[in-house]
Amino acid sequence: MSSATDTSTGAVNEGRAGARPDTRTTRPRVLSLVQPTADSLHLGNYLGALRQWVPMQDDHDAFYGVADLHALTVEQDPKQLRQRTLRSAAQLIAAGIDPEKSTIFCQSHVPEHTQLAWILSCLTGFGQANRMTQFKDKAARGLGDQASVGLFTYPVLMAADILIYRADRVPVGEDQRQHLELTRDLAARFNHRYGRTFVVPEPHIVASVGRIADLADPVGKMSKSASSPAGIIELLDEPKINIKKIKSAVTDSDREIRFDVDQKPGVANLLTILSALSGTPVETLVESFAGKGYGDLKGAVADAVAETGGAFRERALGLIEERTELEAILAAGAERAREIASAVVAEVYDKVGLLPPAQGRSR
Ligand code: TRP
Repeated sequence: MSSATDTSTGAVNEGRAGARPDTRTTRPRVLSLVQPTADSLHLGNYLGALRQWVPMQDDHDAFYGVADLHALTVEQDPKQLRQRTLRSAAQLIAAGIDPEKSTIFCQSHVPEHTQLAWILSCLTGFGQANRMTQFKDKAARGLGDQASVGLFTYPVLMAADILIYRADRVPVGEDQRQHLELTRDLAARFNHRYGRTFVVPEPHIVASVGRIADLADPVGKMSKSASSPAGIIELLDEPKINIKKIKSAVTDSDREIRFDVDQKPGVANLLTILSALSGTPVETLVESFAGKGYGDLKGAVADAVAETGGAFRERALGLIEERTELEAILAAGAERAREIASAVVAEVYDKVGLLPPAQGRSR
């Protein structure tokens, strides 16, 4: 239910002149963002990340959002980006992020992120940024010299996303670990140089529910960039398309259902998916399939995906269709986010020695 936020100031900015009170509740703060780079979440995103954010909103002051500015680090079609931003927000809600409990917002609606990012970029060593492996991978993967400066400074913007809310915990996948380390470094560096300002956040690395693999190539992970359409379950696709993909999932030539990632990666993946969706431990599933065949296992996976996916899809498509409700949720989220973010930027600007604008007229 809606947890009324009290106005007790966070210890960090208590009594600081000029800074508006932080509306942190007594609970630790969690923050994470998704990039709007696909029309639909896939099952790997959902099980590996989003689903873990949902319970955190009950014991945290939660901030979840759509990182549209990060999406711009590679070329986007403008119309499609807008669509995908809305679709991503809708899917957060469909996955169970509750606007009554969490602040749901769009990154570009809170311009303070980019303001803080500039300050942080001036604290980031070129060499340190240059060691980010994700940048190197992405730049190597086709972009080469065409990689943008934005792609290079992407981790600094991510640090700003996190530090501007003084988030305590950041649930992310293993691939974001290095970016979290940079964030922690920048927080500590700023605090050291200018006095305690930022919370040094803890990564909350989501131990992917066992890893969800590509259905058509179960040695690789289910991933938008790596998987072929046949290997990836997009949650907003027609259920019958997904059922077909599950039924055609690659298994192996024997008939035994057991969990063996090395010898039987396809079967292991189906068991992992079924276990994650049903909450039944893999061993129990294996016992229950004794004497049965791959067709039975695939049927059970298809049913489980249809059940979770059906409700998800209906809710998400409803929100996308209606749109006004979604826009209202994002507007309210941005308002709450900006309250906090603007106070932090004011404090940071002051600390680093930027001249405040003359009273009265500024926005
Ligand atoms: N870089 C993250 C990803 O690609 C998305 C992201 C942007 C993010 N800003 C963030 C995640 C802040 C956590 C916190 O998955």
